Amino acid sequence: MRTFIAIDLSREILQKIDAVTSFLKTQTPPDGLKWVDIQNLHLTLKFLGEISTDQINQIKTLTAAALADIQAFTLSIEGMGVYPNPSKVRVVWLGCKNGQTLIRAHEVLDRTLASAGIEREKRPFSPHLTIARVRRGTQPSLIREIGETLSQFRIDDLGSFRVSHIRLYQSTLTPRGPIYTPLLTIPLDKV
Ligand code: 2AM
Repeated sequence: MRTFIAIDLSREILQKIDAVTSFLKTQTPPDGLKWVDIQNLHLTLKFLGEISTDQINQIKTLTAAALADIQAFTLSIEGMGVYPNPSKVRVVWLGCKNGQTLIRAHEVLDRTLASAGIEREKRPFSPHLTIARVRRGTQPSLIREIGETLSQFRIDDLGSFRVSHIRLYQSTLTPRGPIYTPLLTIPLDKV
């Protein structure tokens, strides 16, 4: 099964992001972008990829152990960008502020899960929320148009929320989009 570890967003932030993406949809060409369903939005801390069902219990134990020293923290969502660059857009993202704890959580997960054979991240961790992806086969001219259009907008602070738990998810890819099923919830508010 395909798995990843992620942070869920608060209802208030999701509503604000929904308003932003609804506006951006009206400004961008209708065919080039696939917008992420609001109920699927999350911030990935660690992508595990394919794991076998035999591994799942070990992965759950290691995930809980890795996060044992991470306390609940506040995260702000701010800024929009495209990856890798405006003339070659593949992904549209929203950024995060106050990411120090996120980076620490990523590093400890990356290191701890390596002992279960999960590949370590080769690129530096760059916390982001993917809000849209360019559809495969989109013409380069349309991709440039999307990049130019999105470059005109600035997304300010969308507010902050308390990250009180982190989840291990299963991702099932279907023709109608991914289905994310929580496999384990780790609370961060420890007493
Ligand atoms: P993305 O938001 O940048 O696309 C579920 O697929 C989650 O895992 C998504 O949030 C996705 O990140 C992330 N993901 C998918 N494939 C990945 C990969 N090969 N490396 C790192 N993260 C990946």
